[in-house]
Amino acid sequence: MPQASLTPAPAAVPRHIAIIMDGNGRWARQRSRPRTFGHAEGVEALRRTVEAAGDLGVGYLTVFGFSTENWRRPIEEVNALFDLLRLYVARDLDRLAREGVRVRVIGDRENLQSDILEIISRAETRTRGNDKLNLTIAFNYGGQDEIARAARRAAEDVKAGKIAPAEINPESFGRYLDTAELPPPDILVRTSGELRLSNFMLWQAAYTELVFVDKLWPDFDKAALEEAIEMYRKRERRYGGTDSGS
Ligand code: FPP
Repeated sequence: MPQASLTPAPAAVPRHIAIIMDGNGRWARQRSRPRTFGHAEGVEALRRTVEAAGDLGVGYLTVFGFSTENWRRPIEEVNALFDLLRLYVARDLDRLAREGVRVRVIGDRENLQSDILEIISRAETRTRGNDKLNLTIAFNYGGQDEIARAARRAAEDVKAGKIAPAEINPESFGRYLDTAELPPPDILVRTSGELRLSNFMLWQAAYTELVFVDKLWPDFDKAALEEAIEMYRKRERRYGGTDSGS
């Protein structure tokens, strides 16, 4: 009998999928509609994807809703993105809570309006006891900003004598990140054909399989998620080792 490979095959269903939901603006432009219309349709795609992830048994879904760089967009578009977070929580929180979804929001909380902070806290508190699907929304999030904030907190702990500089290593540092409670993503999907990380999960994506799909985000659905999972399953993951596992 041929010897079985010692490398574990990628699990049939990845534990953690991260998504850069890109292409809302282009989707709207193709229809001669304002960009904000594309973002609103993007929320529908998010709803479909959360449901599909739950159905498929994905444990963690992390989506990029608003980046620290998105402040550079016209103020009307920035306001529309904040309104969509308000609307999403207002419309979906009851259902998410009922269906066993735990909601978390990662990103910089400084300078967010007080009603947004209140909405985030309400969603997180209400769903704290759930564990069927962990939905994390990155909002006012940037990977470099997250690492800098974590470094600042670690430095404060060193200054306060809580830890020694020598105790800082990748594992202990990870506990200072916004994602301290999450496993690293197995797959990072970016829609719309762009081939960049755009400052998303820079630390966490060290060994993540990157999956780029041409579909624009508002067209994303369960079949597209299944296709992305299939691409991941066909890849071998070696974590810097060899393919024989030795
Ligand atoms: C990128 O498309 C998408 C965004 C900057 C926002 C993503 C937000 C949503 C899908 C809405 C849901 C959000 C929450 C918080 C519930 P783009 O505008 O850069 O598209 P383009 O590259 O075609 O211009």
